[in-house]
Amino acid sequence: MSRRQPAGKHLDRQTFTHGKLVGVCGKIIASPPNRCPLTALELMSILRVQDLHKSYGKGDDRRPVINGVSFELRRGECYGLLGPNGAGKTTTLKLCLGLTAPDSGSITLVGRDIPGQARQARARIGVVPQIDSLDPDFSVEENLIVYGRYFGMKRADIVARLDWLLEFSNLAAKRKAYINELSGGMKRRLTLARALVNDPDIIFMDEPTTGLDPQARHMIWERLKALLAAGKTILLTTHFMDEAERLCDRLAVIDHGRLIAEGAPRELIARHIESQVVEVYGDAAPAWAPKARTLAERVETSGETVFCYTNHAEPLLHDLSTAEGLRYLHRPANLEDLFLKLTGREMRD
Ligand SMILES: Nc1ncnc2c1ncn2[C@@H]1O[C@H](COP(=O)(O)OP(=O)(O)OP(=O)(O)O)[C@@H](O)[C@H]1O
Ligand SMILES: [Mg+2]
Repeated sequence: MSRRQPAGKHLDRQTFTHGKLVGVCGKIIASPPNRCPLTALELMSILRVQDLHKSYGKGDDRRPVINGVSFELRRGECYGLLGPNGAGKTTTLKLCLGLTAPDSGSITLVGRDIPGQARQARARIGVVPQIDSLDPDFSVEENLIVYGRYFGMKRADIVARLDWLLEFSNLAAKRKAYINELSGGMKRRLTLARALVNDPDIIFMDEPTTGLDPQARHMIWERLKALLAAGKTILLTTHFMDEAERLCDRLAVIDHGRLIAEGAPRELIARHIESQVVEVYGDAAPAWAPKARTLAERVETSGETVFCYTNHAEPLLHDLSTAEGLRYLHRPANLEDLFLKLTGREMRD
């Protein structure tokens, strides 16, 4: 992949200038704590999850939540976990981080067995939790310092990194502000900056851009691409399909605690979905749906929209050109189409 370092090439030191993450030979911004040389296995696979099972509840209420999940992250890639609400994404991340123990299965993260060696692994890991957990008693910069101290970093090393972190999150002007003075989007950006305090090798991001406006989301995408270009690995959950398509080298779709598809976004779309979609809108659309079924390989109706999936759109488009009271959009198939095909259109709890 052209934007990336070759697998295994790791930039230990970096700075963020003019919107770009730049490796700066010799300029040490922070000394990451407890960093050991990488083993050959870690160079290939930074996270390996095998046949994970997890249930919650007791007695008759015991319910499986993760049902035999296996996947592997290569160093330097962005790997997405997509799935409906309650599919098991956050639980999978918590298991990987050693925050909850599996019933069975194995996890190796940065060469450490999880959960047994989770404490040692954490020094090389960044986490953006689904729900912000910033300390309201501290200012923006104090939050970053306190978090870095938690990793055993020297205060001076964290302070030397503050400018970069604040620029990364576009929060330089809020440096002295307290958490209750920040908007929801600012808090989310601070949580992202906080995950990078210890210069982690791999960052777990649980819906990192939820609650951000489109401007901030685009900014964060650029920043995350720069992190990837610098050799970082990202495990990302998101409900934004365009985010997954832009950022992920590979992704897995998870549903009911099972991994139901895995691959590069475009490859998955090509494997599971017809190449073109014609969305047909309007009061007359549901009545037109039976006709659509004779012209498209697959048709789905959602409210007053008829989704026609096809590899040959011409017959559909010809029919629509003369149909009264119908509007339509002709577009290539995308990740949302794949997601809906694999997980269905029914609402989840
Ligand atoms: N501590 C817990 N105790 C009991 N059940 C739990 C616990 N944590 C999660 N669950 C259940 O496990 C299932 C998976 O939850 P999880 O948070 O992993 O879903 P998710 O894929 O992250 O969903 P979302 O997209 O809504 O964040 C859900 O049914 C949830 O209710
Ligand atoms: Mg979740």
